[in-house]
Amino acid sequence: MKQSYITLNNGEKIPQFGMGVFMVPEGEETKKACLDALKMGYRHIDTAHAYQNERSVGEAVRESGIPRGEIFVTSKLWPSEYGEGKTMAGIDKMLERLNIGYIDLLLLHQQVGDYMGAWKDMEKAVEQGKVRSIGLSNFESDRLEEVCSAAKIKPAALQVECHPYFQQRELKKRIAPYGTVIEAWYPIGHGDSGLINEPVFTELAKKYGKTNVQIILRWHIQEGNVIFPKSTNPQHIKDNFDIFDFELTDEEMAKISSLDRNVRFYNASLEQQEAQFTAWSPAD
Ligand SMILES: NC(=O)c1ccc[n+]([C@@H]2O[C@H](COP(=O)([O-])OP(=O)(O)OC[C@H]3O[C@@H](n4cnc5c(N)ncnc54)[C@H](OP(=O)(O)O)[C@@H]3O)[C@@H](O)[C@H]2O)c1
Repeated sequence: MKQSYITLNNGEKIPQFGMGVFMVPEGEETKKACLDALKMGYRHIDTAHAYQNERSVGEAVRESGIPRGEIFVTSKLWPSEYGEGKTMAGIDKMLERLNIGYIDLLLLHQQVGDYMGAWKDMEKAVEQGKVRSIGLSNFESDRLEEVCSAAKIKPAALQVECHPYFQQRELKKRIAPYGTVIEAWYPIGHGDSGLINEPVFTELAKKYGKTNVQIILRWHIQEGNVIFPKSTNPQHIKDNFDIFDFELTDEEMAKISSLDRNVRFYNASLEQQEAQFTAWSPAD
Protein backbone atom coordinates (compact mmCIF):
# COMPACT_ATOMS: atom_id res chain seq x y z
CA MET A 1 0.00 0.00 0.00
CA LYS A 2 1.28 3.47 -0.88
CA GLN A 3 1.72 5.51 2.27
CA SER A 4 2.68 9.15 2.75
CA TYR A 5 5.97 10.61 3.99
CA ILE A 6 6.71 14.05 5.45
CA THR A 7 10.05 15.80 5.02
CA LEU A 8 11.26 17.05 8.40
CA ASN A 9 12.99 20.43 8.93
CA ASN A 10 16.40 18.69 8.62
CA GLY A 11 15.61 16.97 5.31
CA GLU A 12 14.98 13.51 6.84
CA LYS A 13 11.79 11.74 5.76
CA ILE A 14 9.31 10.35 8.30
CA PRO A 15 6.51 7.91 7.38
CA GLN A 16 3.36 9.83 8.31
CA PHE A 17 1.78 6.66 9.68
CA GLY A 18 3.17 4.11 12.14
CA MET A 19 2.55 1.88 15.13
CA GLY A 20 2.58 3.06 18.76
CA VAL A 21 3.45 0.62 21.53
CA PHE A 22 2.46 2.53 24.67
CA MET A 23 1.19 0.06 27.32
CA VAL A 24 2.16 -2.99 25.25
CA PRO A 25 4.15 -5.38 27.46
CA GLU A 26 7.81 -6.12 26.67
CA GLY A 27 8.35 -9.54 25.09
CA GLU A 28 6.19 -11.52 22.70
CA GLU A 29 3.29 -9.04 22.68
CA THR A 30 5.32 -6.02 21.55
CA LYS A 31 7.44 -8.08 19.17
CA LYS A 32 4.39 -9.68 17.52
CA ALA A 33 2.47 -6.39 17.17
CA CYS A 34 5.52 -4.76 15.54
CA LEU A 35 6.23 -7.73 13.28
CA ASP A 36 2.55 -7.95 12.22
CA ALA A 37 2.62 -4.24 11.43
CA LEU A 38 5.92 -4.37 9.52
CA LYS A 39 4.67 -7.34 7.46
CA MET A 40 1.56 -5.34 6.54
CA GLY A 41 3.69 -2.44 5.29
CA TYR A 42 4.13 -0.21 8.35
CA ARG A 43 7.58 1.42 8.38
CA HIS A 44 7.45 3.48 11.58
CA ILE A 45 7.36 2.48 15.26
CA ASP A 46 6.95 4.83 18.22
CA THR A 47 8.29 3.62 21.57
CA ALA A 48 9.90 5.18 24.69
CA HIS A 49 12.23 4.22 27.50
CA ALA A 50 9.22 4.65 29.81
CA TYR A 51 7.25 2.01 27.87
CA GLN A 52 9.89 -0.55 28.87
CA ASN A 53 9.57 -2.43 25.57
CA GLU A 54 12.41 -1.03 23.43
CA ARG A 55 14.25 -4.38 23.39
CA SER A 56 11.23 -6.09 21.81
CA VAL A 57 10.84 -3.28 19.25
CA GLY A 58 14.50 -3.72 18.30
CA GLU A 59 14.08 -7.50 17.98
CA ALA A 60 11.11 -7.03 15.66
CA VAL A 61 13.05 -4.57 13.48
CA ARG A 62 16.00 -6.96 13.21
CA GLU A 63 13.87 -10.06 12.59
CA SER A 64 11.59 -8.40 10.03
CA GLY A 65 14.16 -8.82 7.26
CA ILE A 66 13.36 -5.28 6.10
CA PRO A 67 16.44 -3.10 5.43
CA ARG A 68 17.14 -0.92 8.52
CA GLY A 69 17.09 2.24 6.39
CA GLU A 70 13.45 1.63 5.44
CA ILE A 71 12.20 1.57 9.05
CA PHE A 72 11.79 4.71 11.17
CA VAL A 73 12.09 4.20 14.95
CA THR A 74 11.30 6.87 17.53
CA SER A 75 12.10 6.62 21.22
CA LYS A 76 11.95 9.03 24.14
CA LEU A 77 14.16 9.92 27.09
CA TRP A 78 12.62 10.13 30.56
CA PRO A 79 13.35 13.20 32.81
CA SER A 80 15.50 11.05 35.14
CA GLU A 81 17.98 10.91 32.22
CA TYR A 82 18.05 14.66 31.51
CA GLY A 83 21.21 16.72 32.04
CA GLU A 84 24.37 17.60 30.11
CA GLY A 85 26.64 14.53 30.16
CA LYS A 86 23.96 12.41 31.82
CA THR A 87 21.71 12.37 28.75
CA MET A 88 24.50 11.06 26.49
CA ALA A 89 24.85 8.06 28.83
CA GLY A 90 21.05 7.59 28.59
CA ILE A 91 21.25 7.66 24.78
CA ASP A 92 24.04 5.06 24.77
CA LYS A 93 21.94 2.77 26.97
CA MET A 94 18.94 3.27 24.69
CA LEU A 95 21.07 2.32 21.68
CA GLU A 96 22.04 -0.89 23.52
CA ARG A 97 18.43 -1.73 24.37
CA LEU A 98 17.18 -1.10 20.82
CA ASN A 99 20.26 -2.61 19.13
CA ILE A 100 19.35 -1.24 15.69
CA GLY A 101 22.44 0.88 15.05
CA TYR A 102 20.93 4.35 15.37
CA ILE A 103 17.74 6.11 16.48
CA ASP A 104 15.73 7.86 13.76
CA LEU A 105 13.98 10.30 16.09
CA LEU A 106 14.76 10.92 19.76
CA LEU A 107 12.35 12.95 21.89
CA LEU A 108 12.38 14.46 25.36
CA HIS A 109 9.32 12.68 26.76
CA GLN A 110 8.23 15.31 29.32
CA GLN A 111 8.68 19.05 29.87
CA VAL A 112 10.23 18.74 33.37
CA GLY A 113 13.75 18.41 34.80
CA ASP A 114 16.97 19.61 33.14
CA TYR A 115 15.57 19.59 29.60
CA MET A 116 17.94 22.36 28.46
CA GLY A 117 21.01 20.32 29.42
CA ALA A 118 19.47 17.23 27.82
CA TRP A 119 18.90 19.06 24.53
CA LYS A 120 22.64 19.92 24.30
CA ASP A 121 23.53 16.22 24.56
CA MET A 122 20.89 15.32 22.00
CA GLU A 123 22.46 17.81 19.58
CA LYS A 124 25.84 16.17 20.18
CA ALA A 125 24.29 12.74 19.56
CA VAL A 126 23.11 13.98 16.15
CA GLU A 127 26.65 15.22 15.35
CA GLN A 128 28.00 11.80 16.38
CA GLY A 129 25.53 9.92 14.14
CA LYS A 130 23.81 8.13 17.04
CA VAL A 131 20.54 9.90 16.31
CA ARG A 132 19.17 11.31 13.02
CA SER A 133 16.52 13.75 14.30
CA ILE A 134 15.56 15.21 17.67
CA GLY A 135 12.33 16.60 19.04
CA LEU A 136 10.02 17.15 21.98
CA SER A 137 7.00 15.52 23.52
CA ASN A 138 4.41 17.20 25.74
CA PHE A 139 6.17 20.59 25.68
CA GLU A 140 3.13 22.86 25.62
CA SER A 141 4.08 25.47 28.25
CA ASP A 142 6.49 28.35 27.51
CA ARG A 143 9.25 25.78 27.96
CA LEU A 144 8.57 24.97 24.30
CA GLU A 145 9.79 28.42 23.20
CA GLU A 146 12.65 28.26 25.77
CA VAL A 147 14.05 25.13 24.07
CA CYS A 148 13.29 26.26 20.53
CA SER A 149 14.97 29.65 20.88
CA ALA A 150 18.15 28.26 22.48
CA ALA A 151 18.41 25.19 20.23
CA LYS A 152 21.13 24.97 17.57
CA ILE A 153 19.07 22.15 16.05
CA LYS A 154 15.40 23.10 16.04
CA PRO A 155 12.98 20.32 17.07
CA ALA A 156 12.01 18.20 14.06
CA ALA A 157 8.84 16.96 15.77
CA LEU A 158 6.56 17.84 18.66
CA GLN A 159 4.49 14.93 19.96
CA VAL A 160 1.33 15.93 21.84
CA GLU A 161 -2.22 14.80 22.53
CA CYS A 162 -4.21 15.54 19.37
CA HIS A 163 -7.50 14.19 17.98
CA PRO A 164 -10.79 15.60 16.66
CA TYR A 165 -11.84 16.75 20.18
CA PHE A 166 -8.48 18.48 20.76
CA GLN A 167 -6.98 19.63 17.48
CA GLN A 168 -4.08 21.77 18.74
CA ARG A 169 -4.72 24.74 16.43
CA GLU A 170 -2.91 27.24 18.72
CA LEU A 171 0.10 24.98 19.27
CA LYS A 172 0.42 24.49 15.51
CA LYS A 173 0.69 28.26 15.09
CA ARG A 174 3.34 28.51 17.86
CA ILE A 175 5.50 25.78 16.37
CA ALA A 176 5.15 26.80 12.70
CA PRO A 177 8.20 29.18 12.70
CA TYR A 178 10.49 26.23 13.47
CA GLY A 179 9.16 23.95 10.73
CA THR A 180 8.37 21.36 13.39
CA VAL A 181 5.90 18.61 12.52
CA ILE A 182 3.07 17.70 14.93
CA GLU A 183 2.82 14.07 15.99
CA ALA A 184 -0.59 13.19 17.43
CA TRP A 185 -0.76 10.92 20.44
CA TYR A 186 -4.17 9.46 21.38
CA PRO A 187 -5.06 9.83 17.66
CA ILE A 188 -8.32 7.94 18.27
CA GLY A 189 -8.70 9.19 21.84
CA HIS A 190 -7.06 6.09 23.33
CA GLY A 191 -10.01 4.10 21.89
CA ASP A 192 -12.70 6.38 23.41
CA SER A 193 -16.07 5.10 22.18
CA GLY A 194 -17.73 8.54 22.42
CA LEU A 195 -15.21 9.97 19.97
CA ILE A 196 -15.16 6.95 17.67
CA ASN A 197 -18.96 6.82 17.46
CA GLU A 198 -19.51 10.49 16.60
CA PRO A 199 -22.32 10.50 13.95
CA VAL A 200 -20.14 12.33 11.39
CA PHE A 201 -17.67 9.41 11.38
CA THR A 202 -20.50 6.86 11.05
CA GLU A 203 -21.93 8.81 8.10
CA LEU A 204 -18.56 9.09 6.33
CA ALA A 205 -17.67 5.47 7.09
CA LYS A 206 -20.84 4.43 5.27
CA LYS A 207 -20.07 6.68 2.29
CA TYR A 208 -16.49 5.41 1.84
CA GLY A 209 -16.99 1.77 2.93
CA LYS A 210 -14.56 2.30 5.81
CA THR A 211 -14.75 2.08 9.62
CA ASN A 212 -15.22 5.09 11.88
CA VAL A 213 -11.60 4.70 13.09
CA GLN A 214 -10.34 4.75 9.49
CA ILE A 215 -12.19 8.03 8.91
CA ILE A 216 -10.54 9.59 12.00
CA LEU A 217 -7.09 8.37 10.93
CA ARG A 218 -7.62 9.66 7.39
CA TRP A 219 -8.59 13.07 8.83
CA HIS A 220 -5.26 13.17 10.70
CA ILE A 221 -3.34 12.34 7.52
CA GLN A 222 -5.04 15.14 5.58
CA GLU A 223 -4.48 17.52 8.54
CA GLY A 224 -0.74 16.86 8.15
CA ASN A 225 -0.36 15.11 11.52
CA VAL A 226 2.02 12.19 12.01
CA ILE A 227 0.11 9.31 13.67
CA PHE A 228 0.90 5.92 15.21
CA PRO A 229 -2.29 4.35 16.58
CA LYS A 230 -1.62 1.54 19.01
CA SER A 231 -3.09 -1.89 18.43
CA THR A 232 -2.23 -5.48 19.27
CA ASN A 233 -5.27 -6.75 17.34
CA PRO A 234 -4.15 -7.95 13.86
CA GLN A 235 -7.45 -6.90 12.25
CA HIS A 236 -7.16 -3.39 13.73
CA ILE A 237 -3.49 -3.21 12.70
CA LYS A 238 -4.51 -4.06 9.12
CA ASP A 239 -7.55 -1.74 9.05
CA ASN A 240 -5.71 1.23 10.56
CA PHE A 241 -3.18 1.20 7.73
CA ASP A 242 -5.85 0.85 5.03
CA ILE A 243 -6.49 4.59 4.73
CA PHE A 244 -4.44 5.55 1.69
CA ASP A 245 -7.01 4.71 -1.01
CA PHE A 246 -9.60 7.43 -0.39
CA GLU A 247 -9.74 11.15 0.31
CA LEU A 248 -12.10 13.25 2.43
CA THR A 249 -13.44 16.38 0.71
CA ASP A 250 -12.72 19.88 2.03
CA GLU A 251 -16.29 20.05 3.28
CA GLU A 252 -15.93 16.75 5.16
CA MET A 253 -12.62 17.87 6.66
CA ALA A 254 -14.33 21.07 7.85
CA LYS A 255 -17.18 19.09 9.38
CA ILE A 256 -14.70 17.02 11.40
CA SER A 257 -12.73 20.13 12.34
CA SER A 258 -15.92 21.56 13.84
CA LEU A 259 -15.86 18.76 16.48
CA ASP A 260 -12.96 20.56 18.21
CA ARG A 261 -13.95 21.14 21.86
CA ASN A 262 -10.50 22.06 23.16
CA VAL A 263 -10.91 19.19 25.64
CA ARG A 264 -8.10 16.78 26.49
CA PHE A 265 -8.41 13.22 27.72
CA TYR A 266 -5.20 13.70 29.76
CA ASN A 267 -5.20 16.76 32.00
CA ALA A 268 -2.38 17.77 34.36
CA SER A 269 -1.05 21.19 35.37
CA LEU A 270 2.68 21.88 34.99
CA GLU A 271 3.03 21.47 38.79
CA GLN A 272 1.31 18.09 38.65
CA GLN A 273 3.54 17.05 35.76
CA GLU A 274 6.64 18.11 37.74
CA ALA A 275 5.53 15.98 40.70
CA GLN A 276 4.31 13.00 38.68
CA PHE A 277 7.18 12.70 36.23
CA THR A 278 10.04 13.15 38.67
CA ALA A 279 8.65 10.61 41.17
CA TRP A 280 9.48 7.64 38.95
CA SER A 281 12.31 6.49 36.71
CA PRO A 282 12.27 3.62 34.23
CA ALA A 283 14.60 0.64 34.71
CA ASP A 284 17.54 0.35 32.30
N1 LIG B 1 4.35 11.17 24.15
C1 LIG B 1 3.43 10.78 25.00
O1 LIG B 1 3.37 11.22 26.16
C2 LIG B 1 2.42 9.78 24.55
C3 LIG B 1 1.26 9.55 25.33
C4 LIG B 1 0.35 8.61 24.87
C5 LIG B 1 0.59 7.93 23.68
N2 LIG B 1 1.72 8.15 22.95
C6 LIG B 1 2.01 7.43 21.70
O2 LIG B 1 0.85 7.45 20.88
C7 LIG B 1 0.46 6.11 20.57
C8 LIG B 1 -1.03 6.04 20.38
O3 LIG B 1 -1.71 6.41 21.58
P1 LIG B 1 -2.53 5.37 22.45
O4 LIG B 1 -2.01 4.03 22.19
O5 LIG B 1 -2.52 5.77 23.84
O6 LIG B 1 -4.02 5.58 21.94
P2 LIG B 1 -4.76 5.38 20.53
O7 LIG B 1 -3.84 4.90 19.49
O8 LIG B 1 -5.55 6.63 20.29
O9 LIG B 1 -5.81 4.23 20.89
C9 LIG B 1 -5.40 2.93 21.17
C10 LIG B 1 -6.65 2.12 21.60
O10 LIG B 1 -7.55 2.03 20.49
C11 LIG B 1 -7.80 0.67 20.17
N3 LIG B 1 -7.85 0.53 18.72
C12 LIG B 1 -6.81 0.63 17.84
N4 LIG B 1 -7.23 0.46 16.58
C13 LIG B 1 -8.57 0.27 16.66
C14 LIG B 1 -9.56 0.05 15.67
N5 LIG B 1 -9.26 -0.02 14.37
N6 LIG B 1 -10.85 -0.12 16.10
C15 LIG B 1 -11.16 -0.04 17.41
N7 LIG B 1 -10.26 0.18 18.38
C16 LIG B 1 -8.97 0.33 18.01
C17 LIG B 1 -6.66 -0.12 20.77
O11 LIG B 1 -7.09 -1.42 21.15
P3 LIG B 1 -6.55 -2.77 20.41
O12 LIG B 1 -5.11 -2.96 20.81
O13 LIG B 1 -7.46 -3.81 20.96
O14 LIG B 1 -6.73 -2.56 18.94
C18 LIG B 1 -6.32 0.72 22.01
O15 LIG B 1 -7.17 0.38 23.08
C19 LIG B 1 1.01 5.31 21.76
O16 LIG B 1 1.05 3.91 21.53
C20 LIG B 1 2.36 5.95 21.93
O17 LIG B 1 3.26 5.48 20.96
C21 LIG B 1 2.63 9.08 23.38
